[in-house]
Order: sequence, then C-alpha cells, then structure tokens
Amino acid sequence: MPTTLPVPLLQRRHFLLGTFASNCSSGMSVTKVPERWQNSWANNLALARMLDDAGIDFMLPIARWIGYGGETNFHGDVLETVTWATGLVAHTRQLTVFATTHTAANHPVVVAKQIATIDQLGQGRAGLNIVAGWNSPEYEALGLKLPPDHETRYAYAQEWFEIVQRLWQDPGTFDWQGEHFQLKGIHSHPKPYGAMPPILNAAGSGLGREFATRNANFLFTPAIDLDRSKDEVAELRAAARAKDREVGVLTFSHVVCRPTEQEARAYLAHFGQTHADWAAVDNLVRLQFAHAQSFPHDLLALIRDRMAAGHGGFPLVGTPDQVARGIISLAEAGFSGTTLSFVDYVLEFPYFRDTVLPILRAHGLRDA
Ligand SMILES: Cc1cc2nc3c(=O)[nH]c(=O)nc-3n(C[C@H](O)[C@H](O)[C@H](O)COP(=O)(O)O)c2cc1C
Repeated sequence: MPTTLPVPLLQRRHFLLGTFASNCSSGMSVTKVPERWQNSWANNLALARMLDDAGIDFMLPIARWIGYGGETNFHGDVLETVTWATGLVAHTRQLTVFATTHTAANHPVVVAKQIATIDQLGQGRAGLNIVAGWNSPEYEALGLKLPPDHETRYAYAQEWFEIVQRLWQDPGTFDWQGEHFQLKGIHSHPKPYGAMPPILNAAGSGLGREFATRNANFLFTPAIDLDRSKDEVAELRAAARAKDREVGVLTFSHVVCRPTEQEARAYLAHFGQTHADWAAVDNLVRLQFAHAQSFPHDLLALIRDRMAAGHGGFPLVGTPDQVARGIISLAEAGFSGTTLSFVDYVLEFPYFRDTVLPILRAHGLRDA
C-alpha cells in the first residue's frame, strides 16, 4: 500500500464540524436533569450513523479515568476511546473518529499500532488526540506521577510522539535511545492506511502550544471572547508557519437550538442553572485552575455558568438562524471548525441538521 493516500479529514476545505464527549456520561453538560446524556454504546452508534449520513466531519472523545464528583459524578462513566473509535469507524463510511490518548498512561509502541489498526479499518479515518497530562488526581488514580512542571510534561510528550511518528513512517527496525524511552529493535506494521493520521492537541500553556504548533494538524482551544480569539488564532497560525507548518485552530461549542429564542433560553436556564450539578462544576473549575492552563485563568472565573451548560464551550443558543450566526462568527474569528455538543445528542442533532446546516451551506461555510 503506498503511503501517500490522502487523509480524508485533511482534504476537507469547509468549516469543520464534529461532536465532542459523546463517550462520556452527561456529555458536556454538568447537569442533573434526568434526560442528561446517556453515553451508552447504542446511543453513540446511533449518533455516529446520523453524523455520517449528514456529512459531519469527525467525532472526538474525552479520555478520562475518574469522575468529577458532585451528585452525578460527572464523567464517571466513560467509554474507553481507542475501542470506542474502532467500533465507530467500523460502522461508518466517511466520518473521521479520533481516539484520545494520555501519553504517560499509554506506551507509544502500543498506541502507534492501535491507531494504525483503526486507520486500516477505516481507510484513513482514524485521528489521534494527544493529552500530555494535567489532572493530577487522575494520575494518582493510575499510580502515575504527573510532573508538576510543563517542561517535563511536554518533553516527555515530544519524545513519545517522535517514537509514534517514526513507527508510522520508518519501514525498517530501529533502536531508540532517548531520555524517557530506551527501546530495542522496534518496528510497527501495518502502517497507517495513507499519510499520517490527523493529530489534535488541546494545550493552553506556552509550552503546550509550542508542542501543538510543532506536531499537530489541529489545535483545540476554548472560544470565550471572540475578539481575543481572533488574535489568538492568528498568533497560533503564525507560530506554525514559522515552523513551516499549517495548523488549524478548532474550538468547542454547546448547542441549544429551538424554534424560538425564548424556548432555547428557558431550556438553557433549566438544565444549565436551576438543575446544574454545581458541586461537580466547582470541582471541574478547581482542577482546571490547579493543573491546566487550557482556559485562560482570568476568564475561567467568569465562566462558571458556561462550565455548567457546556464544559466552557461557546454557547450556540437560540433559533436556527441565531445558532448559524454564532457558527459564522467563529469562522470569522479564524477558527477552522468547532465541535458541537447537546444535552441529548441523538434527540437534538436532527433539528440542527435540518435547520442549521442548510443556512451554513447557503453561506458557503459547508459543502455538506
Ligand atoms: C477541548 C479540549 C479537549 C481536551 N481533551 C482532553 C481529554 O480528553 N482528556 C484529558 O485528560 N485532557 C483533555 N484536555 C486537556 C488538554 O489536553 C491539556 O492537557 C490541558 O489543556 C492542559 O494543558 P496545558 O497545561 O498546556 O494547558 C482537553 C482540553 C481541551 C481544551
């Protein structure tokens, strides 16, 4: 098999749309409402088939090993992402499915082969989201020590990814003598189906962004203040170009789309305020402050409501026209795409598909 076959996701020139966190209990909404997302395999499969038929570009999972507590133990129930992606790729035709991998918990030789296997199965539709680590209690749960400094975390991630890359590209057998890995006589076959699978990284810190602009096809970052996002996206793209690379910047959004704005706002208040799982929200915010810089800390304190409604995602709330305008504003800020989440993805996606996608097509934002 030649290694130059194009990668389907990287061929797409329109504004990318995906879903995020459907493998996790409650998805992106830290809420107690009884209709909160059930992350069953049946629901994920139903969603994937609908997304595939509608021409949506990708699905992205969250890798998590312990929940956030609160009344619902938010994200306490999580489908493991490599096995989840394998199943979904087998049941779809055009959708790219990412697996999310913690570098410290997964050996690079194992991951290179896992992703290559999914990519063979899906003929180029596997993606890899690399997590260099941030959530200390989660590492303690696994008996791992998360290095407190970003230098060590990202140096480890860099060496880890260089091994994965080499295994995907090198036709022969090689030894690796690095700082963190000493490997003897390694090789990996099969290779990915075509060119390298798309790489995603969601770092917020300076060193993390250095890692992302050096290695990833897409950097994932919150959109909180779109004026600020414009500068941020421009800076990230410039940082990648300085390394002779092109990096797309993606964000994540939470959708509440209803025939009237009043209905949408009333439902947002219902699940994301009155019935939010505030104890879990506070744990989430506390851990973000303590260990990560993915949300700028000056803004994090201001977005407790957004953390409840959509894990800090950009709010797309209102009529189909208002939701479409929100997505257009993300494109105008320079983003290459966004993920979508819903309180109940399977129930709510069809209305979005039937009403919002045609508006985006009419604006030239989407081919499908
Ligand atoms: C959109 C988004 C998706 C992420 N997905 C995961 C994930 O699935 N699992 C995880 O442990 N961390 C995840 N993270 C955390 C990041 O990968 C990263 O570790 C975190 O932002 C800390 O990096 P930093 O200290 O460089 O900011 C995500 C972050 C963002 C913003």
